[in-house]
Amino acid sequence: MDIKQIAALDEQVYFHTFGARQNVAFASGSGCTLTDTEGKQYTDFFAGIAVNSLGYCYPAFQAAMHAQLDRILHTSSVFYIENQTLLAQQLVENSFADRVFFASTGAEANEGAVKLVRKFFYARQENRYEVITLNNSFHGRTLAMVAATGQEKYQKPYHPLPEGFVNVTPGDLSALEAAIGEHTAAVLLEVLQGEGGVVPFSKAYIQGVEALCRKHGILFMVDEVQTGIGRTGKLFAYEHYGVTPDVVTLAKALGNGIPISAILAREPFASAFTPGDHGTTFGGNPFSCAAGLAVMDALLNDGILSGVAAKSDYLRGGLEDLARKHPVVKQVRGLGLLLGMELDTVPVAQIVAALQKKGFVVGSAARNTLRFAPPLIISSAEMDALFAALDETLTEVSSHGSADL
Ligand SMILES: Cc1ncc(COP(=O)(O)O)c(C=O)c1O
Repeated sequence: MDIKQIAALDEQVYFHTFGARQNVAFASGSGCTLTDTEGKQYTDFFAGIAVNSLGYCYPAFQAAMHAQLDRILHTSSVFYIENQTLLAQQLVENSFADRVFFASTGAEANEGAVKLVRKFFYARQENRYEVITLNNSFHGRTLAMVAATGQEKYQKPYHPLPEGFVNVTPGDLSALEAAIGEHTAAVLLEVLQGEGGVVPFSKAYIQGVEALCRKHGILFMVDEVQTGIGRTGKLFAYEHYGVTPDVVTLAKALGNGIPISAILAREPFASAFTPGDHGTTFGGNPFSCAAGLAVMDALLNDGILSGVAAKSDYLRGGLEDLARKHPVVKQVRGLGLLLGMELDTVPVAQIVAALQKKGFVVGSAARNTLRFAPPLIISSAEMDALFAALDETLTEVSSHGSADL
């Protein structure tokens, strides 16, 4: 089908949750290059929302997937699964965690983490169940995670929301401490708010949150669904902050496109789940864990993780040069290869569309921020090409008030 046929059929048969989508359907990819159904090529600075860290058709990843496909895809966690055990070991050996549980999506991992903390206090016969989260956060689309997500636009149509979530002002330790009460069980936050506009927190704030959790005997939980598995230049973004979480959730990049998510926890919290407390059909199956193992191997043994810092400096440097040149750019911010460019007054969707026309896929976050989350294998030449296209687009916007679409 060509793009017109796909769009027309989609309009008829798919839920309208994504509205008028960007007018392109990708048919294949190689490295950081995507090819659409019409044969046009694009350089990818979006990675399917920070998922495809190895880009497309990374040879060792492809080989691992093909080999697993020809052996076995799914059994059930009723049985032992070698890949599941090995991936859990990899994550434990490379993090703060003592144990791991696999699920399929970010929201599901976060739900499981909230259940874990409730179960921990239930077993101790303490009536602590409330989880404090931050305004402008994003934790997923299930009902409980909508309640956790501190953004009215996601919550409004879905009342009554599940109880047990309190949203507080981000960056304000006094507000956080004021919200801690006799029923508080944990704080759950992103150290860098991705969907909220690529907004990183200061070290002082994140360390302050950890200190408050310790002071009040509640859990410190970090949602690394978007920031985890190398995206920020460390395997986990919490490592930039000199803190030790009790629970971390992962998804997105862990499978490089194969759905897999994880809850990582340290003891005694990890053992709060006892047989029958939690489960999932698909989570941690042989295929998704083979993907996770191939991702970890590439990150740790192919030099991909160690290369992120230099690529990040290059991307940030180029975006900051553009910010100095174009007054319409308010700020460049972020960590590693998750960078945002906040724009003043210009509709971000228009810039995204103009860049797409020039052969670049970029994302947006919040109302006014361009989001750059390329595969972690992006090259300097590909970044140079983006800088030139973005420079041209920002010039068009500044002179005509709109990008030349
Ligand atoms: C920080 C964070 N948490 C949770 C989620 C939800 O993940 P999923 O869409 O896989 O349920 C997202 C998705 O963007 C996210 O960025």
